[in-house]
Amino acid sequence: MTSLPDLIDTQIRANGPMSVASYMGLCLTHPAKGYYKGADPLGAGGDFITAPEISQMFGELIGFFFVNLWQQMGSPKAFTLLELGPGRGTLMADILRVACRAEGFRDSLDLRLFETNPTLIAEQNARLEPYDPKWVDSFDKIGAGPLFVVANEFFDALPIRQFVRGQTGWHERVVGLVDDRRAFGLSPTPIPNAALPDTVQDAPLHAVFEVALAGGEVMSRLAKNVSRLGGAILAIDYGYALSQTGETLQAVKNHAYADILAEPGEADLSAHVDFEALGNVARKAGLAVQPLVSQGEFLNRLGIGERAKALSAANPSAAAGIAAARTRLTAADQMGTLFKAFCAASPGLRPSGFSE
Ligand SMILES: C[S@@+](CC[C@H](N)C(=O)[O-])C[C@H]1O[C@@H](n2cnc3c(N)ncnc32)[C@H](O)[C@@H]1O
Repeated sequence: MTSLPDLIDTQIRANGPMSVASYMGLCLTHPAKGYYKGADPLGAGGDFITAPEISQMFGELIGFFFVNLWQQMGSPKAFTLLELGPGRGTLMADILRVACRAEGFRDSLDLRLFETNPTLIAEQNARLEPYDPKWVDSFDKIGAGPLFVVANEFFDALPIRQFVRGQTGWHERVVGLVDDRRAFGLSPTPIPNAALPDTVQDAPLHAVFEVALAGGEVMSRLAKNVSRLGGAILAIDYGYALSQTGETLQAVKNHAYADILAEPGEADLSAHVDFEALGNVARKAGLAVQPLVSQGEFLNRLGIGERAKALSAANPSAAAGIAAARTRLTAADQMGTLFKAFCAASPGLRPSGFSE
C-alpha cells in the first residue's frame, strides 16, 4: 500500500497545495495510515503523556465534579456521560471509580465514548467493560436524560486552518512541494477580512491566525444537545483564553518536538485551543460559559491537596510520587498554567472548580 508521505505528495502533484487542515487531517486520521489509527501513542514508550496517565487524582477529582453536577440536577435516573478521545480509558476509569460510589449514579449511567483509534478502543474496552460503554461515531443519537461531556486533550488534536497576514490581506497557509520536498506556502488569493475576528484585523505583517473549524463544529453539535437535554461540557487542554494571533501548530514524536512536514503520520500534530472561539459557539447554543481557569486552579479548588494527603496516608511509600504528580499537574512551570479547564453548562448549574 502507498505510504502516507507518498499519498500526500501525489495528491499535491495532482491537485496543487493543500490546506494545513487537510494535511493535518490526513496525518492524524487517514483511515489506514493516520497517526491516530495506529499504535497507542501514549505513555513513556509512546510520544507523549497526559494528565490522567500522570496520576489517578486527575480523574478522581473530575469524578467528584460530575457527581456534584448530577446531584445539582436532582440525581436524574437516566443520563449520558460521553468522553471525547478517551485514550487508554484511564480518565474515565478514575472518574467512575469515584463517581459510582454516589448512590444511584451507576444505575443511571449511560456511558458513551467517541474514539477513532482501534488500538485505544480495545484498551478502553478492557478498562471500562464493567460500565457497559458504547462507542458513538456521531453526536446526533445521544441517549435520553442530561448529557455530561468530558474531553482531555481532545480539541488540540483536531485539524486547524492557518492564515498569514500579507500586504494585501490574510492568505491561507498551504502545504505544497518545492523541489519535491514538502514546504509551507501561501494561497495567492486573500480571504475576505470579515472571515476573521475584529481583534486580529490590525495584526502585523506575517502574523498567523489559526482557526479550529472542526473543533467548533464538535462543540456546536454537543452544545446544542446539552442545551436541549441539560448538562455540561468539560474540556481540559492547552490553549489560550482570548482569540489571538500566534503560531501553535506543533509536531511531537518520542516526547520531543519534531518537524511538522518531515514524517506525515509518524508524529502527533496538535495546536493550542482557542477557548474564546469554543465559548462563543457554546454560548450561541444557549449554554452558560464559565470563566476559563487554569488546570492548576481547577484541581486546587476541587481539592487535589486533600486528595494527595489521603492517598499518601493510605500508602506512605508512594507519598513522594504522589507529591511529584500533584506538582506536575498544578505547578505554573509545569502543566498548571498552560493547560486550562473550560466548562459550558446549562444556565443555573454551578460547576465546581470554576469559582472560589
Ligand atoms: C492526546 S490523546 C488524549 C487521550 C486521553 N484523553 C488522555 O487524556 O489521556 C487524543 C485522543 O483523542 C483521540 N482522537 C484524536 N482525533 C480524533 C478524532 N478525530 N475523532 C475521535 N477521536 C480522536 C485519540 O485517539 C486519543 O484517544
